[in-house]
Amino acid sequence: MFNKLCIIGVGLIGGSVAKAARAQGLAKTIVGYGREQDLVNLQTAKRLGVIDEFYIESVEAVKEADCVVIATPVASIEAIFNQLKPFWSKETIYTDVGSTKGSVLAAAERVFGFIPDNLVPAHPIAGAEQSGVEAALVDLFVHKRLIITPASHTNVEAVQKIRTFWQGFGALVSEMDAQHHDSILAATSHLPHILAFALVDMLGHKDEQTEILKYAAGGFRDFTRIASSDPTMWKDICAANKSEILPLIEQLRAELAKIHGLLANDDYQQLFSTFAYAKSARQRFLNQFEVPTMSKSITFHIQNGGKLQGEARVPGDKSMSHRSIMLGSLAEGVTHVKGFLEAEDALATLQAFRDMGVEIEGPVNGELTIHGVGKHGLKAPKNDLYLGNSGTSMRLLSGLLAGQPFNSVLTGDKSLSGRPMKRVTEPLALMGADIKTTEKGTAPLVITGKAGQLNGIDYVMPMASAQVKSCLILAGMYAQGETSVTEPAPTRDHTERMLAGFSYPVKQEGSKVTVTADGKLTAADIDVPSDISSAAFFLVGASIAEGSDLLLKHVGINPTRTGVIDILRLMGANIEVLNEREVGGEPVADLRVRYSPLKGIDIPEDLVPLAIDEFPVLFVAAACAEGQTRLSGAEELRVKESDRIQVMADGLQILGVDVGGGTVTSHGDHRIAMAFSIAGLRASAPITVLDCANVNTSFPEFKDLVKNLGLDLVCEES
Ligand code: S3P
Repeated sequence: MFNKLCIIGVGLIGGSVAKAARAQGLAKTIVGYGREQDLVNLQTAKRLGVIDEFYIESVEAVKEADCVVIATPVASIEAIFNQLKPFWSKETIYTDVGSTKGSVLAAAERVFGFIPDNLVPAHPIAGAEQSGVEAALVDLFVHKRLIITPASHTNVEAVQKIRTFWQGFGALVSEMDAQHHDSILAATSHLPHILAFALVDMLGHKDEQTEILKYAAGGFRDFTRIASSDPTMWKDICAANKSEILPLIEQLRAELAKIHGLLANDDYQQLFSTFAYAKSARQRFLNQFEVPTMSKSITFHIQNGGKLQGEARVPGDKSMSHRSIMLGSLAEGVTHVKGFLEAEDALATLQAFRDMGVEIEGPVNGELTIHGVGKHGLKAPKNDLYLGNSGTSMRLLSGLLAGQPFNSVLTGDKSLSGRPMKRVTEPLALMGADIKTTEKGTAPLVITGKAGQLNGIDYVMPMASAQVKSCLILAGMYAQGETSVTEPAPTRDHTERMLAGFSYPVKQEGSKVTVTADGKLTAADIDVPSDISSAAFFLVGASIAEGSDLLLKHVGINPTRTGVIDILRLMGANIEVLNEREVGGEPVADLRVRYSPLKGIDIPEDLVPLAIDEFPVLFVAAACAEGQTRLSGAEELRVKESDRIQVMADGLQILGVDVGGGTVTSHGDHRIAMAFSIAGLRASAPITVLDCANVNTSFPEFKDLVKNLGLDLVCEES
């Protein structure tokens, strides 16, 4: 890529750039430049083969270099520009690696009177506490972010070349303006460094008298690791980015004062909420931004055998939890929710509404208080709405946001970003919505709000999908005239029921549901029953494991969701529906399930949409049943969190259809991971299920609950 690469400042970062460039074959010759006092370091760099040659005269160093990387501390960049100015060449691309970018551009302005168009400022977000070329690493930038901050007139080809250069090292490159970069880094890097230095400064001085640090453990070490960084460098970074950092210190002071107040007043409820929010926010950030090598992988190891016995209440219904947040937010007044599912998918919806200005307290033990803002009270989110793995959040929100007076962007994780969104954007377009997808019809969804401009439609859905139906109902609440949706087969009707519970008019005629924009939602309390989709793992588990007898309490048995009970009963399962009652407009019951030998059946097609999420575990039931089970008309399974037909077929092939044992992967699909775990009850050898982190999207308690009830499951995190 470059004939001659010149690194100014061959320390940890400069040395790592040189090593990576050499390893990737991106430069023929690599030279270093430093001051006289850097001589020993430069000699070491040459001896280690990091650079081919070094100079202490800049004229020689940069001569005929086609790329110059300035890898010296930010405070020295102005001096470096002054040195380079006499031989600044149009043929060369200049770039730097400084942690602040406004200061680099300002230094260039001062030295040159303008920002040269062949200067491409860049910042690799990678580093270590060590310094010097001996600490340089060939893979320092692999999977790390690198931000390029070109000026508006920076040469586009030069930017492209620097982008390719860093991508060649395995870095994840993005572009933004320098000011934006500095404000982000102030919050995510500079402030944390200041905090670490401050804590150690404070405790260190105290320690002179008390030797408290002798007893410091891992938490202290983790938190203060970055206080081992180079103090000169950090003094310089703070100085260079002072205007962004000072207001953040003020905000942190206010946050600490808040926590001080809560503690002083024994307000442990709020203290818990603050910590709980921080914990879930951190998890979301990790899920969203963490690069693949760093993400936590979870493996389930299941000892074969066992039986399920006892009583359990599985967590709250996912579909209803999503809708409770959505409708509670749009309602007038305060909505209390009980039984809310505290799992990643529903929490993604919750966060999206917080991002749109809705005040939501909790969740604490499944309880939430939503301060509704009314149908027209949502505010424009400041950032993209990140919906993790949740198809329900994305599809329902696309309908709701299409008719708002603001624009929004919906993003998701890798699996969600591969799922079809045209099924919602196409009918929404017929209503006058403006939503852009990728060419493949997938997220991100870029929504231009069309408040007052949507028109009702009469739509016949080509597939049985509650998400599409609900999406259009939500859009219809903002459209002129009537919006009707007809479904080819009954699908879950929680949106319709909950809207009625919030006193919003919904007309149901056979398979057609109709709404208009006339009406408002009035806050109502919601009691979310247990999710029958989570209960399904235990219904199957107890059915296939001899000696099992299980009582599942307070399970939602809405008739649009009970296909799993019907199918299992057709196969010979022993499931009793006890204590039927109605809670908040939804039927609920306790389910008693006992072991019973299953037989294969042809699954009636009309039951498929009513058990759509339960097929992974129903496949396990089928594998354990005597005889053949046939499923048809279930193509929707191919576009769930994974291709559930393929992934289950692959896994059952490995285990042997009579369930031996072995290692299978869930392909990051929560329901596949849990289904294969349940297969362990009947397996003849241990089962290992890879890639199980996604169980947290719907059922974080699964591993503990299943263990309590009698399956020997060990969860390994790495
Ligand atoms: C859901 C609808 C179903 C289901 C999903 C939840 C909902 O999806 O699979 O887990 O809450 O509306 P489809 O509408 O794609 O069938």
